[in-house]
Amino acid sequence: MKIVNLQVNHKENPIGYEFQKLHFSWQVEGSTGKEAETVRLCVWKDDRKATDSEIYDSGEILPADFGGMDVELTLFPRTRYHWQVTVVSDKGEACESDFAWFETGKMEEAWDGKWLCIPEKLDSARVLRSVEIKKPLCQARLYLCGLGMYEVYIDERKAGEEYLMPGFHSYNFVQEYQTLDVTEYFAEGIHELEILLGNGWYKGRYLFEGGFENLYGNHLKVIAELHLLYVNGTSEVIYTDENWQARTSYIGRNNIYDGEIQDYRLSGKTVKLEVLETEKELLKERTSMPLIETEYVKPVSVIDTPSGETVLDFGQMITGWVSLYCRESEDTQIRLQYGEILQGQNFYRDNLRTAKAEFSYVSDGNEKWIRPHFTYYGFRYVKVEGVSKVQKEDFIAFRLMSDCRINGYVKTGNEKVNRLISNVQASQQCNFLDIPTDCPQRDERMGWTGDIAIFSDTACLCRDCAGFLDHYLEMTALEQEELNGSVPLFVPRPPLPSSNHVENLLLQMSGAGACAWGDMATIIPWTLYEHYRDKTMLKKQYPVMRDWVTYVSKRTESNPVPHLWQNDLQLGDWLALDHEDLESPFGKTDAGYLASAYYCYSLTLTLRAAEVLGKTEDKEWIQEELKNARNAFQKEFLQENGELKIEETQTGYAVLLMFELFRNGQDRIAAERLDRLVRENEYHLNTGFIGTPLLCQALSKYGAHETACKVFLQETYPGWLYEVNLGAVTIWERWNSLNPDGSISSTGMNSLNHYAYGSILSWIYRYLCGFLPDSDHVRTLQISPKLCTELKWIKSSYGTPWGTYRVEWNILSESEIRYHIQIPFGGKAMINLPGAKEEMLPAGEYVRVIRSVKQE
Ligand code: BGC
Repeated sequence: MKIVNLQVNHKENPIGYEFQKLHFSWQVEGSTGKEAETVRLCVWKDDRKATDSEIYDSGEILPADFGGMDVELTLFPRTRYHWQVTVVSDKGEACESDFAWFETGKMEEAWDGKWLCIPEKLDSARVLRSVEIKKPLCQARLYLCGLGMYEVYIDERKAGEEYLMPGFHSYNFVQEYQTLDVTEYFAEGIHELEILLGNGWYKGRYLFEGGFENLYGNHLKVIAELHLLYVNGTSEVIYTDENWQARTSYIGRNNIYDGEIQDYRLSGKTVKLEVLETEKELLKERTSMPLIETEYVKPVSVIDTPSGETVLDFGQMITGWVSLYCRESEDTQIRLQYGEILQGQNFYRDNLRTAKAEFSYVSDGNEKWIRPHFTYYGFRYVKVEGVSKVQKEDFIAFRLMSDCRINGYVKTGNEKVNRLISNVQASQQCNFLDIPTDCPQRDERMGWTGDIAIFSDTACLCRDCAGFLDHYLEMTALEQEELNGSVPLFVPRPPLPSSNHVENLLLQMSGAGACAWGDMATIIPWTLYEHYRDKTMLKKQYPVMRDWVTYVSKRTESNPVPHLWQNDLQLGDWLALDHEDLESPFGKTDAGYLASAYYCYSLTLTLRAAEVLGKTEDKEWIQEELKNARNAFQKEFLQENGELKIEETQTGYAVLLMFELFRNGQDRIAAERLDRLVRENEYHLNTGFIGTPLLCQALSKYGAHETACKVFLQETYPGWLYEVNLGAVTIWERWNSLNPDGSISSTGMNSLNHYAYGSILSWIYRYLCGFLPDSDHVRTLQISPKLCTELKWIKSSYGTPWGTYRVEWNILSESEIRYHIQIPFGGKAMINLPGAKEEMLPAGEYVRVIRSVKQE
């Protein structure tokens, strides 16, 4: 028996985070028992297990609602706390976990450090000073924030594992600082401490429609404190003040979209530094997950293209950058350009629009590995210029991603489906970069709220996204406060230059709130609760839910039909194919119908949250408003017989079914209409952002599972496997991103790495593997897999806070299916297999062979 995955607030051994609440979680593996008899959690300040440092002992208890344990403690700044959990199983085995820890940042402590600002308009600079360590040191911590973006070097060695710090957050409302444990960098002697600054999202060109510079500020700046603790018990703080210096760096122009220029000749000039006495009020401990290199990828081939270019193919889509071993003589210029696809076997990047996506380097004549610092790229292919001999071993790609552990697994007996599954996983991997982005390559890469609203369930089934999405919701809350409850189309939403410079309608309306996009405010908190069962987190996020439905309810007041939302601009079923005008990004489904349906859905989710949290007052008005909105919805949009009054679409019915907006007993009619629409379209979908995640779920849930399987397995356009047949390695933005001959269909808005339609993976997990989170019961999952004969078998796992469930099924013969189910320690599952009796089972491994199954 062992205890694993010890986390505080969904992070392993977090340092310098904000700990306003403390949620401890862990998992037990390898026990012969079924569940815990008792659990005991102890916390020590500073030294582990020294009796006088113990500050908390839960005693032997059995937490009733185990998604983890919430503990209230008075914490001190810059202090490490150790913790340990002891579990006794119902078989009497006892197990002590290893020690885990968390360490606070500066908390309320005032900053001695001052912002050092570079008044000159520079794209990059080095801010530095020397540090002398005169006696044996036992601990060094660096608390700091650099804006736009920074990396720390101590004696020219990069400190810490993170990149693109401080990450992308709503800098106009909060400036998160990081804490680095730099003890190992400082032996006795003189050291050089350097902070390398670049533009980043803060002041580099960013935002779609050509972008804007200096969105959050005009100047590079940094604030830092180095806290040194010596073996003899004394301490010292070195902080940013007039004793620091600044020089130009070898980095020239740099920004997220265009890439980075490096030229040694730019380096070394003295730069003026201004010491600012103010502006510290926005500084706050970080809550963002570390942004790290998660994988190295070697090129699979070097291609000589028909038009004479040299192009590296990495065989897969990557978000990050390429590092290259430079062997060129002084002043040779090297250029790398990044693209997603070849066209006519040549290098291509027109679908990146204005993003230059390149790295340019002037050699100083020294042989070394080089890489960019303040940008990233979304790519599979890299065009190389200026390298005299291009050899594979001189290039390596690094994947950058926020740290979200893999949490789910699924493989089937169908290779094309497996490719699709790994394409979804790849698109998540490529777009979870501090914020959930729409795409990683073109001049956009923004936190579009609608995309993550529809993808969040898939995201949480694949990876542990609790910390990542919680941070994103914190940013949402800040933006929402500014917008009186509305939720923007993208988060963060940088302060836009005065609106008459902004012609783009979407940019102008970005704060107005649109259905599905704004509804991330209710969808993501509820999705997180379903997957991670952390009530304290839900409580913290609840105001985002409540404020959004309150905002929409105000909007509905001025609608001609009360309680419906038909009076605002909507993006609707974005990119659906049911519109006569295929050039239009808007689908055919009535926008007021969709907005009103989402309003009801958001009310439903907020009501559930209010119930879980015991918010009685809110519960009452939400219940009342939901009743009114549903009635109004049914009257306005449904015929007597339950069919839609508006023009029928697949999306229309999928929404009606999945949001349960049909009149009592009329779900069958809606399901039949949906089934018919799909069959009439020869088992092809024509849905967009709203309909796509719901279509197969609605069909499977309401008795047309076979139709769901057929649309899912459709190999001709439009469909998920059409992309796979054309060699896709990630999920495309559009069903027709590529034409059947492999040519790109358009360049205006066409990314090959957009996770939105990857939300089909939720259907695979929830319906084919059968994992249905059950937030009404403690530590319970519903498991009801539905077969899809063409897949032959499925092997899958899903990680919950208390452990990992596994489901496998295998069609042995036409009349014989073998199921293999594993339930983790402490968990239960209500198992529902086709053709067998429903059974509630405790932890353990179960095999069932069921003969002669009839699928409904
Ligand atoms: C983005 C989307 C986004 C949409 C909304 C696009 O440009 O890439 O995924 O949700 O705009 O307008």
